[in-house]
Formats: sequence, structure tokens, C-alpha cells
Amino acid sequence: MKKIFICLIVLILLGSIGIYWFTNQNKETKVKKVSNNIDSISLKLEQEKYYIKENLNRYLAYHKSHDFTLSKVIADVNSNLDKVKYEDVYQTNTKENQVMLVNKYYYLTENYKPDDLVVLTAKYNSGVNSSLRKEAAEAFMKMSDAATLDNIIIKNASAYRSYEYQVNLYDRYVARDGKEAADTYSARAGFSEHQTGLALDINEIDNNFENTDAFKWLQNNAYKYGFILRFPKDKEDITGYQYEPWHYRYVGPKVAKQITDENLTLEEYHAFYVQYKNNS
Ligand code: DAL
Ligand code: ZN
Repeated sequence: MKKIFICLIVLILLGSIGIYWFTNQNKETKVKKVSNNIDSISLKLEQEKYYIKENLNRYLAYHKSHDFTLSKVIADVNSNLDKVKYEDVYQTNTKENQVMLVNKYYYLTENYKPDDLVVLTAKYNSGVNSSLRKEAAEAFMKMSDAATLDNIIIKNASAYRSYEYQVNLYDRYVARDGKEAADTYSARAGFSEHQTGLALDINEIDNNFENTDAFKWLQNNAYKYGFILRFPKDKEDITGYQYEPWHYRYVGPKVAKQITDENLTLEEYHAFYVQYKNNS
């Protein structure tokens, strides 16, 4: 009887050890599989053109929750889409000058006003907000003169807007359409690049502008004068705004050409070439 009892205890002990060993083996295999998977995604991410090594953990987290291609994961995270608009914000580095970024994550303070604003004359202007920073104004006048030679009229409709002006404009849109809708087409005060003095709306603030010869001319020529279409049709998620065929941003001819050639937004360009490449 005693022997049978001892045998039973030994059997139970051996069984428990067996079960414990088997469960642990399984756990280890699972952990290994997950970490192998992360390693292989990391390796693939590293091969991507706009990979920024400091963003790796954010790419991995974003990839886990979004069924997107790796290049979209990189473009989105570089553009801060994994953060909360208007909440996870940074102050714009105005020393970056023509390539400074202002959007739903980068803001200008209430008292920021460029000190080299130039008022456009009637020949180049049809709106009330008629100033641009000097270099942008000169480039715009050159562009407008070149367009005139091709029988195309290009005039400013709205350029530099002060913080206070944007407060009123945005509030009016919110009163008319509600906050959610207003946020798709109008910037909150401090978050509008019109405050940089480097952005302007051309001719008509209307989607029909896309069908005009002036728009086609700009599509072919704006970059030569340093301007980019700032809120393109296919990049609305990245810019945070609906398509605006009339809104252009001065970034200088070299940057405008690169942004155009590489089909980037200022968000993507800024993250990779201004912040990352300039600091590594
Ligand atoms: N319409 C652009 C987004 C602005 O308000 O600055
Ligand atoms: Zn605009």
C-alpha cells in the first residue's frame, strides 16, 4: 500500500514537471516568434527611403494598429499622425525660415509676425491680405510676370494673415459649419501658415480653380519660382486639410523642386530633410 502511494506521488510530480516544461516551451516559442516578427519588420522599415531611426518604436506601434504598407506607416508617423492634433503640439522653429512647418502639430505664437512683409501692388493683388515676406513676394511677382507672358493672370487673393485675423476667420467658419467641418478647411489661430507670410491663396478660393488655365500653369511652373501646392488632393490625411487647389506655399526653388520631384508634402519633407538629415 505504502509503495503504491509513493509511486502515485512520483507519477504526479513527474506529470507536473512535464506540464510545466511543455507550457514554458510553448511560451518561449511564442515570444521568439513575436520578436522574430518585430525584427523582420524593423529590418524592412530600415530599408524604406524616409526611415528615421528615432521613430522606430512609433512605426512598430502604428504598424500594429494599422493595416498599411510600411512606406505609408513611415509617411504617417513622420507626419505625426500617431499623435493627437492640436494637443501633442510643438512650437514652430521660425529660424528654419522658408522651410518652417506650421500645421495641426506645429504652431506659431500669438505675437509672431514676420519683420520683412512687403505689400503687393494692385497688379499682383486682388485681396485684403496683401503682404508676403520679401523673398516670397519677389518670387511671386516674378511668377506672376512669367504667367502674364503666357496670357495667364495670377494674383494674390489672401496672403499674410495675423493671429487675430485668423481667430475671427476660424470663429466665423465654426459658427457657420460647426467645429468639426471647419477644422477640415480652416486652421485655428496660431496653426495657420498664412501667419508665416510665406503662404498665399491664388485667384479664386474655390474648387473650380482646379479647372482653370491658371491652375494648370501653376502645376507646371510654380516650383520653378519656389512655390508648392500645399494641400494636394491625395495627401489630405497627411496635411490634415481637404484639397485646396488655390493655396501655395513658398519654400524656395531648390526645396520646391525636390518636394515636387519626390511627391512629398511639407510635413514629410520637414520630418526627413529638415529635422532628421540636418541633425544627423
Ligand atoms: N485654409 C488653410 C488651411 C488655413 O486656414 O490656413
Ligand atoms: Zn490658404
